[in-house]
Amino acid sequence: MRCVAVGPTTAKVMLVGEAPGAVEEQTGVPFTGGAGKILDAALRSAGLRRSSLYITNIMQVRPEGNDFKKFYIKGAPSPELQDGIARLRKEILKVKPNVVVALGNEPLKAIVGLEGITKWRGSVLRCGLEGWEFKVIPAYHPAAVMRNWKWFPILVLDLKKVVREQ
Ligand code: URA
Repeated sequence: MRCVAVGPTTAKVMLVGEAPGAVEEQTGVPFTGGAGKILDAALRSAGLRRSSLYITNIMQVRPEGNDFKKFYIKGAPSPELQDGIARLRKEILKVKPNVVVALGNEPLKAIVGLEGITKWRGSVLRCGLEGWEFKVIPAYHPAAVMRNWKWFPILVLDLKKVVREQ
């Protein structure tokens, strides 16, 4: 099943992940598997209500072997990934959020064109898209936090910044 965005199109905050995993492929809803549980815990700790957020991914289909690199061909975005990025831009223009949270490297690259989540996480980046100005706050991807628990409080810290900047 395609995994499509959830949440109010009037949301002030938009969360952007990479692509659905096995659970999201079944439920059709972003962040409903293991990474979703971590995200939910971090949102709660930061004081953000999940139901108030618009939550989406760059891709609506699961990559082979859960490997996002499958969406690249010789280092360049595949036509499928280019379509995903174009759709994401349309979603940003539809929702017009004040803050977009880029969860991990891929959304950071897709939205701002920057690389290196460890370097950029917690920054407040000013972005514009066809006249709409918004902030992008990069944060660690919850699946990365699952592999490195030391990052959980850092994810919460960055989400608290989202609360202040929204
Ligand atoms: N990882 C993501 O990036 N998005 C999801 O929806 C689930 C896992």
